[in-house]
Amino acid sequence: MQSVWRTMSRRAHSESPVPRSVKRMKISHLTKESYKNGVVLAPMVRSGALPTRLFALKHGASLVWTPELIDKAILHTERVVDPVTGVISYNGKSRAVWTTHPIEKPYLIYQIGTADPDLAVQAAKTVVQDVSGFDLNCGCPVPFSTKGGMGAALLTNPDLLCSILTALREAMPPEITISAKIRLLPSQEDTLKLVERIVNTGVSALTVHCRTRYMRDRERAMIERLKEVVELVNVKMGKDIAVIENGDAQGAVDAVRIRKATGCSSVMIARAAEANPTCLSTTPLVDIHQTLVPSYLRLCKYLDNHWALTKFCLSQFRSAQTQPGGKLEEKRVRETIVKARSYDELVDIVGAWTGEEDMKEIIKAIEARDDQHIRFTEVEMDETDTADPLPSLLASVVAAAKSASGGEFITPPATQNPHPPASGAPLDTEGDVYRPAGMRGMRGFVPALIAGQDPATPTHMPTLVTV
Ligand SMILES: Cc1cc2nc3c(=O)[nH]c(=O)nc-3n(C[C@H](O)[C@H](O)[C@H](O)COP(=O)(O)O)c2cc1C
Repeated sequence: MQSVWRTMSRRAHSESPVPRSVKRMKISHLTKESYKNGVVLAPMVRSGALPTRLFALKHGASLVWTPELIDKAILHTERVVDPVTGVISYNGKSRAVWTTHPIEKPYLIYQIGTADPDLAVQAAKTVVQDVSGFDLNCGCPVPFSTKGGMGAALLTNPDLLCSILTALREAMPPEITISAKIRLLPSQEDTLKLVERIVNTGVSALTVHCRTRYMRDRERAMIERLKEVVELVNVKMGKDIAVIENGDAQGAVDAVRIRKATGCSSVMIARAAEANPTCLSTTPLVDIHQTLVPSYLRLCKYLDNHWALTKFCLSQFRSAQTQPGGKLEEKRVRETIVKARSYDELVDIVGAWTGEEDMKEIIKAIEARDDQHIRFTEVEMDETDTADPLPSLLASVVAAAKSASGGEFITPPATQNPHPPASGAPLDTEGDVYRPAGMRGMRGFVPALIAGQDPATPTHMPTLVTV
């Protein structure tokens, strides 16, 4: 893979302006194969921050999901690219609603929280240049989501659920994947009926969190119920798409057990990755307060990750301690971080602030991956064609996909292939349902995102990245 981010370095920005006439864009796109045989990072409000996604990709995640973003929240943002780091921020009135980086784009699934097909499409169009797929959140049980008909409320409104997927499929270029994340319904029969309807919309993958809407995360996931779902999709319906298990996986090694027990294609991990983002590797880091935290902190500072968000993510880190004195060292690091009011107070833990080197290592590791399932295409685009930039961008993406795949799309053109995206995450107090026991209240570290409250700003045309 080429280093798209390098073109965004400060030097390239100031000394080598992109030619004005024609741009060559390198476009990557996923296939339904991309969802198979992998271990993927789950969508996690706050905990699925950009640095965590990057470390997960460095350490074995085949794909990464963004936190859920509510449709309206992203519509009112302005897209800004940091010319030094390449970080792309979608800024609301007072803060970034979402940040990403071009290096993660080939693996990035953007999760949308929505109950409205039109808003879902608008949200998807706002960020499509920076992601590879959209996922519809049909599992969030918090009242913030369900009162508005979003999240788990969609499980009992399959007409709406499917219409959102269909709208997304129709509006997005064919190589942009659409998927859904659901929970089990109380009855297996109803679950299978729902799955059949979702799959018939043409999704490229389906994730099943093996708990019902009313189960808490401390209750065991009912993975034994997934086998029938897999059989329905892959055998009875004959659909060659990944059914992704979610619930209770402890890491890449544990995922093998879950795949054997359920027949699922891939496994999605949330809380274990929140505790240790390297657990998606078969050789995860241990003693992470010594091995991971310094590098994580340096990267966060380099990427200008919000300090409160960094602090929150670090507060969730846990790992096995294997070194003599390891527990004491972990305690020291934790206490230092808790007391710190800014990055600058953590020199003792990180040493020098060489975050650029940490970023380079991540990029090197990601570029060294053997991602045969991801396609790359170059496409030329007339830069003067900016009167109506978004359609023009989408057209170029379609053109790239056509030339790269010889006409073979994930969803054949003119086929309805419903699928949803996601947006702003419920950072209200009820979002605490996602916190493990004993961690409730940690959310206070992070300013709440008031989804949809930022005044509307015009959707910003993304800067095209040339390679
Ligand atoms: C901190 C946190 C935030 C979460 N945010 C989301 C979210 O934004 N969207 C979503 O679909 N699920 C979200 N979830 C649920 C997880 O994606 C996953 O379904 C659940 O934790 C079960 O997986 P696990 O057993 O591996 O933790 C969140 C979970 C946690 C712990």
